[in-house]
Order: sequence, then C-alpha cells, then structure tokens
Amino acid sequence: MGPYILAIESSCDETAASVIGNGKILSNIVATQDVHIKYGGIVPELASRAHQQNIIPVVNQALLNANITKSMLNAVAVTKGPGLLGSLLVGISFAKSFALGLNVPLIEVNHMQAHILSHFIDDPKPEFPFICLTVSGGHTQIVLVKNHLEMEILGETQDDAVGEAFDKSAKLLGLPYPGGPLIDKYAQEGNSQAYTFPKVDTPGLNFSFSGIKTAILYFLQNNTMKDEQFIAKNLNNICASIQYTLIDILMRKLRKAVQETGIREVAIAGGVSANKGLRKVLEMEANTQGWKVYVPDFQYCTDNAAMIAMAAHFKYVKGDFSSQALVPDPRMNF
Ligand code: KG4
Ligand code: ZN
Repeated sequence: MGPYILAIESSCDETAASVIGNGKILSNIVATQDVHIKYGGIVPELASRAHQQNIIPVVNQALLNANITKSMLNAVAVTKGPGLLGSLLVGISFAKSFALGLNVPLIEVNHMQAHILSHFIDDPKPEFPFICLTVSGGHTQIVLVKNHLEMEILGETQDDAVGEAFDKSAKLLGLPYPGGPLIDKYAQEGNSQAYTFPKVDTPGLNFSFSGIKTAILYFLQNNTMKDEQFIAKNLNNICASIQYTLIDILMRKLRKAVQETGIREVAIAGGVSANKGLRKVLEMEANTQGWKVYVPDFQYCTDNAAMIAMAAHFKYVKGDFSSQALVPDPRMNF
C-alpha cells in the first residue's frame, strides 16, 4: 500500500500532520493555536512555542489514525515556506531529525503549491492546465497550473492579502481574530448593496487591497462619529457590503485571467476559499459562463497537512528529495 509519507505543516499558527499511503490520505490532524485570540493577531514567538508543544502529540495522533507505525514510513515531508521563520523552523527541525532517525528521504513542500494540490485529494480533480485563485491570510495569487509540480503565477497582490483584508476589516468592527469567517457569517443575513466602497484598479492580473482597507476605516469612523451604535445596528449590512466588495475585486481579475488564457477550468484554494459568498459567485459563473469550477472540501481550505502530504506524494513519485541541509524559506516562491 506504500509509499507511506508523513507530512508536517507548521508555517503559521496551525500545527498539522497527515499520513498519505499510495496517494490516499489516511489521517489529517490539525491543532489550532488559540493563544493568539487575545492579541487580535498572530504573535510569531508564541506560535513557535505552541508548535513545539503540539508537534509530537499531533504526529503521534496522525500515525495512530492512519493505523501505521513509524517503521512503515517511506519518507517525511515538511513545509519549507512561505511562512513565519520561527514556525517553519519547528516543523523543519522535527522533520529532519525524524527522517534521519528512520533513515528515509526528506521532501520539502511549498505551502502555496500545496494549497492548490489539495484539489487532488478527492474527486472531482481539475484537468491540466487550470487556473487557481489562491486566497489566504498571507497570499492572493492567480496561478496557471500546468501540471502537479509546474505552476506559474499570473498575478498577485501588491500589498495586503485578501484574507488580511477580511481580518483587518473584522478588527475594525470589533470582531475577534480571525474575523474572516465571522464576516462571512454576518454577511449572509445582510444586504450587500447597503454601502459601497471605492475600488482602485491595478494593472494586469495583480491585486491591491490596501486602498479598500483605508476606505472602510474612514467609512466606519465617519458613521460612528454621527451614531455611536452605527456598527452594532448595521453589522450584517456592513459585513455583506465589505464581503461583496472584496469578492468583486477577486472576481474581476479571475474573469480577466480566464479571458486572457482561454482556460475555463477554474479552482480556488486557501483559507478564503471557505467563504460562502465567494463559492456562490463562482457557482453562478459556472452556470452562466460555462466554467468548470473546483472548490476544496472545507477541511482542506484552511491550513492542514493533508495538502502537504498530497504534494509530497507527487514529489516522491518523481524522486524529488531534499538533503539534511534543508532550511526554512519564509518568502519562498515557485
Ligand atoms: O490558508 P489559511 O488557513 O492560512 C494562511 O496560509 O494564511 O488562511 C487563513 C485566512 C484568514 O485570513 C481567515 O480569516 C480566512 O482565511 N478565512 C476566511 C474564511 N475562512 C477562513 N475568510 C473569509 N471567509 C471565510 N469563511
Ligand atoms: Zn495557507
């Protein structure tokens, strides 16, 4: 049933491990860190310490759930980047020692490519070439996916990521971190046309979200000055309008990418691909424009190690291994 690969993900604030056997995910364990909630964002030093506490129990649970022992592993895979240096270091140090101890090869994985490859865990799988809109807390990219391991970035954000725009807007509304899922929740009860925010266009397929963030800040300041209860009274409509605007910025570029490449196989990936509003707009686009749309299972949208395991499987098959000299690459590109 091999190859069996243990995959570890620790690039941000999730400590995750997964076992894949012959291309099938056998376990998928994620320990979310809640130490950051009271700070309203991720504190890198606290993230590294929590990874150190979580990594052994998470790996043990992943092996247990997969019903295999350490000695059956054929390789150990780990996220090399992009991510927080200290967080990546915990996963990489662990993976290196584990691989050395078991005398099996080490496989390095790019976190952003892994988000895209989460589409190969279950059916239906996209056909090559396809376009993937990768939307997370740290990245916003339109990627041309040529095959499992060959990808080209067609456009990306020049400043904030869309997940960051969701989270910062939520913070302005007094919602706890991470606020993206909460904006999504309140937006479902609101009117997306209640308020409009100015959109600054950027050249080509690149994105910008910093202007909209400032516009939301001023909008909230002005209205709260007139009525202290403005946010509390209109939370659903404000969330719906913010979400509509952010999705509109994403969709304009995605439509442009489809038009320019002529590729109608379209996938989304990353934490923000869990957003119900974005999923609905994509479904509509599929119905009206004839796109074939691929949306990951909720458990594979936000950070997880199953996607790292899937990417590692393709690298294992190709014989693409790393040495013990492996170091984190916080700004890793394709
Ligand atoms: O991919 P991910 O788990 O971590 C990174 O690699 O960054 O993405 C996390 C981001 C956060 O900004 C979070 O607020 C956002 O994904 N997110 C959402 C939703 N679920 C997660 N944003 C909008 N709507 C959601 N339902
Ligand atoms: Zn991610």
